[in-house]
Amino acid sequence: MDSIAINHTTVAPSGSGTAKTSNMLNQLLNTLHSYRPTPQQSLYFIAFLFPSLLLYLINNRYQQQKQRQKQKQIHGSLSSNPTTSEKQLLKENREPGKWPPSSYIFPTPPSYPDWDLHKTKPLPYRPFRYGPVYHTTMGLRTVKPENWIELDNQYPKFHEDKAARIAQRREKCIMVAPEAAEASVELLKELVDYLPARYPSLFRRTAVGIENLWSGESFDISSLTGTGTEGGRKAMEMAARLVQDDLVLMMERPDDQYYLVAGAVLLPGFWRLTDKFGMSLAELHTSGDVPQYQQKLHKGMYNLFRRLRPEQMVGRNNYFIQVDDSLAWSWSIGSEDDETETSWSTAEKNRAIEHHYFRSERQTLRRLPKTGAVCFTIRTYFEPITAVAQEDYVPGRLASAVRSWGDDVARYKGKERYGEVLLEYLDKKHQEQMERGLDLSREDECRAYPF
Ligand code: HEM
Repeated sequence: MDSIAINHTTVAPSGSGTAKTSNMLNQLLNTLHSYRPTPQQSLYFIAFLFPSLLLYLINNRYQQQKQRQKQKQIHGSLSSNPTTSEKQLLKENREPGKWPPSSYIFPTPPSYPDWDLHKTKPLPYRPFRYGPVYHTTMGLRTVKPENWIELDNQYPKFHEDKAARIAQRREKCIMVAPEAAEASVELLKELVDYLPARYPSLFRRTAVGIENLWSGESFDISSLTGTGTEGGRKAMEMAARLVQDDLVLMMERPDDQYYLVAGAVLLPGFWRLTDKFGMSLAELHTSGDVPQYQQKLHKGMYNLFRRLRPEQMVGRNNYFIQVDDSLAWSWSIGSEDDETETSWSTAEKNRAIEHHYFRSERQTLRRLPKTGAVCFTIRTYFEPITAVAQEDYVPGRLASAVRSWGDDVARYKGKERYGEVLLEYLDKKHQEQMERGLDLSREDECRAYPF
């Protein structure tokens, strides 16, 4: 099955453009050297081949520049030209593990355009790229402050699932270290300020906190002290009930590393807060065998956390295939309560396509100004593959992406359990789209990454 080629214009893997271009030039020069064209052929060369080559080179250069600019924007904004007051907040100018409070105030967001609890659909994140090469990168983009939290018509389901999880396993899903109690209260206060401004038809600010106009819940945050584990836990629980996201706080310790010190992780799908609580950023990823973490991710992530300022926010998306329909915990990879490690090997192989789900997390990172904790939000988008594959271009691009996974990524994402069924289905759907006349050259206009 893997050998069926997806019919699409080739996308040059980023980073290899220069080598590819000079290879092509060499080949071309060699051919030209031994070639004696007729006058007609010469004319053809001048009229057609030469302009095409020129266009190719210009476009290639433009794409490289665009890519470089994007990376520069993100990394430049994280490191360049801080003002004097910002300077003292940078890691280089402070003791590791100590954060002098910043006076930065997160901007009050405009209300979300035409937001409606019943009508606003989840954003269609489709963050996978065409092969043939799969690049492991942090995949960060900047996020505007107003887009910190995304809510949509899935809110009632997420709210219900979260409430059930809190009732069943509060201690396991909401954990706060004493050092993070104050930061947990700070996070809740940030949400209490942000949400009524962004989603005024869902939330109302009250004298003591916030009211959810749909569920009728009212939260009094005035008595939360931010000391002791239980105060922090209450704050994280309230925060978790307000949004669809899972929430994590990472704090720097004197050893210069960031640690998972607070979390309300209710709908994680594939990992358990009890396994990861207290781990450093590196341990969080190496313990789960995240492919190429040391080679491709560690340094960039370390620098990002070290340099992130309160006025910046970054985001990224990932994607997984899941072979059951459970948002909170993918039971196919093992029981959530088993002490043993979870594994794709327990998942049933080649389930029917109706059981395949597309899971994408939209993650954001921002630093809370007072305590300096880094807030990591994880919002899951979850849909049947059969629904996602109806969208133009998606089955072809997803099939190409799945084929591009190296052995390590394929192992991590469990491809061996569902690859055959998935690819056969995606190829069929792609073929149907081609037969009905899908114009592949218009894809970039219709679906810009990550959509
Ligand atoms: C710049 C920030 C980060 C980057 C670039 C990053 C990158 C990744 C990548 C590439 C994976 C593999 C799955 C995927 O494609 O997403 C992963 C998994 C994971 N990440 Fe991160 N991550 C970041 C921040 C964090 C933070 C702050 C936490 C704290 C909870 C975290 C916890 C995890 C966990 C628990 C997993 C699953 C590991 C497992 O399979 O056991 N990550 N991360």
